[in-house]
Amino acid sequence: MPTRRHLLAATAGLLAAPVPSFAAPARVLRAAPGTASLGGDLPETDVWAYDGTAPGPVLRAKQGGRLRVRFENALPQPSSVHWHGIRIDNAMDGVSGLTQPPVAPGESFDYDFHLPDAGTYWYHPHNRSWEQLARGLSGALIVEEADPPQVDRDLVLVIDDWRLDEDGRIDEASFGAMMDWSHAGRRGNWPTVNGRYRPELPVKRNERLRLRLINTANATIMALSLTGFDGRLVALDGQPLAEAEPITDILTLAPAQRADLIVDVTAEESARLDWITPGADPYPFALFPVSGEARDEPLGEIAPLSANPLPTKLALDNALRARLTMAGGAMGGAMDAYIGRHPMTAMMGNGKGIPAGTGRLGIRDLADHGFAWSLARISGMPADPVITAKRGETVVISMPNDTAWPHAMHVHGHHFRETKGGPWRDTILIERGEKAEIAFVAGNSGDWMIHCHMLEHQAAGMGTWFRVT
Ligand code: C2O
Ligand code: CU
Repeated sequence: MPTRRHLLAATAGLLAAPVPSFAAPARVLRAAPGTASLGGDLPETDVWAYDGTAPGPVLRAKQGGRLRVRFENALPQPSSVHWHGIRIDNAMDGVSGLTQPPVAPGESFDYDFHLPDAGTYWYHPHNRSWEQLARGLSGALIVEEADPPQVDRDLVLVIDDWRLDEDGRIDEASFGAMMDWSHAGRRGNWPTVNGRYRPELPVKRNERLRLRLINTANATIMALSLTGFDGRLVALDGQPLAEAEPITDILTLAPAQRADLIVDVTAEESARLDWITPGADPYPFALFPVSGEARDEPLGEIAPLSANPLPTKLALDNALRARLTMAGGAMGGAMDAYIGRHPMTAMMGNGKGIPAGTGRLGIRDLADHGFAWSLARISGMPADPVITAKRGETVVISMPNDTAWPHAMHVHGHHFRETKGGPWRDTILIERGEKAEIAFVAGNSGDWMIHCHMLEHQAAGMGTWFRVT
């Protein structure tokens, strides 16, 4: 057996040579203004892009490995990168004003973190997210399994909707519009898949595909339907389902949610991904023209993905419990709330620079300050965490939606499940008048956000945080 000493002796002769670096060098991810062809008959659109493309490059890494990214900010605004859905070291969570200072224009920040779970994740700015995502900043982050399922191809489908004006430019006039902030959020009029309007993505008959669907829209809940594919739903929000489940007629993806499907192409001519809106014809999001055959017969059964190392035991009986009631918004009846005293609250709101902690206000005064929503009677970030959990403790949060709007609630750094059961998720859609009760094990020390991923709702107050000690 060679010992370490032997190895050192053996390599001693090489010492004159440059010392190799065993750590993979950081990949640079540069955010800067740029242009994009969003398809259709549009001229080039001015966007903000990661590495010159919108969406940004698909980042791929291996489960159990590390991702090192040097983020360079060439935007005219401070920014930071949040790695959505990764159970991450808190210092790398990328939340401007909570886990790191915003990265100023011209500056950079080195992200370096471990990837405990395989699956479909994504990255996006976490400063003025409502503007920076709408301008084009977001991208897929794929963590590959050690034993990936057998497929012919792995297709990432980043689904978005842009709000463009008549000239095909990003509608800047409506940034910060209270009409969006207090209603459904900024909904778009230009649907894209991977940054293109109604792209044609060629496939082969009987080809087996893994489709990774990611909803990166600011606020739109996507009701999706697949035609000409047959297969199974295998993961939600990156986390494998215990069983590979039949694909329902309509697959609902709230903002930030993901779904992994394994499908065989059964269409003769063209398969499609449609956007379903009640009372209207299905609207094609992407077309998959069929040419040629991958094989005579489709492959057999689709097995579930192997599980990620999530904590399996939820100690519901001795859990730490909290209630985060959602209130406010248009047609939501009376609301009064405190404006949070956390410095980050000043970065929310409509940018009028109102100091945090103005005292308890009615909805009209809140609106003057750019706030329309509250969580547990606070608009914006409270000075103190809403929950302080010990690492390893089970946390149960009940979230009654006392508003007239649906919300897509996201917990940073953790995956949770509803106490009534169901899949692990990092973002949950809660319909108006409904209530969800979620549970998770506080996994990593640090300060973690909980917020609505309808980014205008977050900016207008629907965001809070908890601490794990
Ligand atoms: Cu994708 Cu704070 O979220
Ligand atoms: Cu919301």
